[in-house]
Amino acid sequence: MIQQLSLFPYLETQESARPPDFIPVYTPVLNGREEKYVLDAVRSGWISSLGSYVTRFEEAFARFCGVRHAVSVSNGTVAIHLALHALGIGPGDEVIVPSLTFVATANAVHYTGATPMFADVDPATWCIDPDDVRRRITPRTRAIIPVHLYGHPAPMSALQSLADEHDLLLIEDAAEAHGAEIAGRRVGGLGRIATFSFYANKIITTGEGGMLTTDDDALAARCRMLRDHAMPPHRRYWHDEVGFNYRMTNLQAAVGVAQMERIDSFIRRKREIAALYREGLAGIPGVTFATERAGCTNVYWMVSVLIEPPYALSRDELIPALRACGIDSRPFFHPLDTLPPYLSTAPRPVALHLSRCGLNLPSSPALTDAQVAYVCQVMQELAV
Ligand SMILES: Cc1ncc(COP(=O)(O)O)c(C=O)c1O
Repeated sequence: MIQQLSLFPYLETQESARPPDFIPVYTPVLNGREEKYVLDAVRSGWISSLGSYVTRFEEAFARFCGVRHAVSVSNGTVAIHLALHALGIGPGDEVIVPSLTFVATANAVHYTGATPMFADVDPATWCIDPDDVRRRITPRTRAIIPVHLYGHPAPMSALQSLADEHDLLLIEDAAEAHGAEIAGRRVGGLGRIATFSFYANKIITTGEGGMLTTDDDALAARCRMLRDHAMPPHRRYWHDEVGFNYRMTNLQAAVGVAQMERIDSFIRRKREIAALYREGLAGIPGVTFATERAGCTNVYWMVSVLIEPPYALSRDELIPALRACGIDSRPFFHPLDTLPPYLSTAPRPVALHLSRCGLNLPSSPALTDAQVAYVCQVMQELAV
């Protein structure tokens, strides 16, 4: 029998009230060589941004994405900002982003002085809808930032055609989709430049951290220089322009190198977990998954479902009910054009609908089959 909601009324604030086998939405898996490499970095004394782990991490990540260059930075938000700044986006420009994404995508545009313009998303994949992008293009549009939302790749070829037609830059926000593929090609190499996050809940983590990937030699060199206060590699303390300190530390990169050794197994496990959820939740009326488009590989950063009638509870009722049973979950993002800094009078309808009924289930590669089965059982029991 499922525990009733009232048993754990203070879970939001009282850690001690959680049942011992509480299933979090995410836990990073750090039991490879992370400790060994961090200790090695500490003992070497190279604890800031100079050090061999930074280079090793960048090389391994570039190889993984199938691109010529990977430039590490301090987080995924500054990665987007650096990409936009390096490409010359600034005041007066417009950049089209999906309405349904984490706020960082739009904030990074805002930091440059440009204006984020919000496009609706595809009801099947939940990623940016190229038809709506077309409607948002104006003479001021300079770039599109598709987001590979929750691990599913955005429709890059349709967006590339639009970008070519209107002379726009295409910047992938791949923060949530390390290893996702379209027709056998990994994200990170599908636009002019791409950005990744290594926050603790991402497919691989460095605690905080980010990466830019590109095949463009000059752009990669420019990002490297700008992340280090725009100091040219061979002229110390000379600065032709204003840059940033967006560097990653060797300690973070040491964790990253260890994580890269296991990234394929993390992704494999995440796809297995998604398949278990699909099987375990199949046939529950009112519970639906996103479509994995033909030729696309979703890496399921989050395994997500929509909760709609005739399911007995609304999404907002289901979250506390799951929590009472020791299961953590998260609502979808709010559409960015419904947030105070970016408020619009006409929120995008698909994004708005998904944000009201979308739910992220526990998705860590550390989950056991039994834990996934338990979540599915609870959701079955709460369905009627
Ligand atoms: C789509 C998207 N973009 C950007 C970011 C920002 O990454 P970070 O938290 O590393 O700054 C995130 C992080 O959650 C994200 O989900």
